Amino acid sequence: MKKIIAILPGDGVGPEVINEAVKIIKVIEKKFNHQFELKYGLIGHQAILKTGDPLPDQTIEIIKNSDAILFGAIGDPIYDNNPSAKVRPEQGLLKMRKILGLYANLRPIKVFSSLIDQSPLKKEIIDNVDFIVVRELIGGIYFGKKGSDKNSAFDTCEYKKEEIIRVGKIAFELAAKRKNKVTLVDKANVLETSRLWRKIIQELAKKYPSVNLETMYVDNAAMQIIKKPTNFDVILTENMFGDILTDEASVITGSIGLLPSASIGEKTALYEPIHGSYPKAAGKNIANPIGTILSLAMMFDISFNLKKEAKIIEKAIENVLNKKIGTYDINKTNPVSTTKFSELIEKEIENIS
Ligand code: IPM
Ligand code: MG
Repeated sequence: MKKIIAILPGDGVGPEVINEAVKIIKVIEKKFNHQFELKYGLIGHQAILKTGDPLPDQTIEIIKNSDAILFGAIGDPIYDNNPSAKVRPEQGLLKMRKILGLYANLRPIKVFSSLIDQSPLKKEIIDNVDFIVVRELIGGIYFGKKGSDKNSAFDTCEYKKEEIIRVGKIAFELAAKRKNKVTLVDKANVLETSRLWRKIIQELAKKYPSVNLETMYVDNAAMQIIKKPTNFDVILTENMFGDILTDEASVITGSIGLLPSASIGEKTALYEPIHGSYPKAAGKNIANPIGTILSLAMMFDISFNLKKEAKIIEKAIENVLNKKIGTYDINKTNPVSTTKFSELIEKEIENIS
């Protein structure tokens, strides 16, 4: 297979974890005789430093002409205490999502049995947790009309029927291949947009008779994710609720560093770890590369339909974790470095037949 992959390392630990994923791309390329052409682009703070723009035209050109995108992270602490900064790294990511029409963000939450003791939650609560959050990604309060003057500010949350239907379909189709359950998370007791979501999703559910639809208020969902996470199969929700709930859900697995994501939509899809730029760890060779490597596995599976390649990457990670090896976030007593960890995963991939 011949494919073009855009590689956007970005900020913080992004370049380090992407470096490791690129090594895995090479290993898969060799093992399965594929040809992956890699095209590097600037994004985020790095791009602002070099061009003044968090998503320069050259990067837009690259992502539009690729078959899939692998992205590290964006963000830099220098912006945290500067709310008046007009140009911000995050704008690069939001613009990229919008340009590519990436309306569905898939964030799987799965517990590795060998890491069960890493979770702050009790073993009996998280045993067998396996759900996926489908977060709407290019609508809602993130992209609504906003404004501010000296003493006031506003952000608007707006959704259109079509925006809800297209992401809703993704959730139902996923559930039909999983455990046949969709939980729509909203705030329909307060918000008009949530009431529209409920109406449309309840209507859409009729087209998927095998799938059970449940609705849940977001405040309750925040509680249930911690109390009984095994109750969920597919969580469908709007942009901001999804942002918050996926960070919360990541805690279940023991480390946010383990979690991958896929953003899919009109054409080219984007794959990224959910951990963000983690500036404190940048340059120290300690970040967990698994979230990024699993994102790569999702790319092989979803964008290229390379199921076997995806499975082998997942299996290799599991094998290494079973040996109780890990970076600092999952192994405080005897951690290995980012590079060492992924080197071991590479070796496993080479050896699995
Ligand atoms: C995420 C991140 C982004 C978001 C930020 C970096 C804009 O938190 O992907 O979850 O809020 O969507
Ligand atoms: Mg987030």
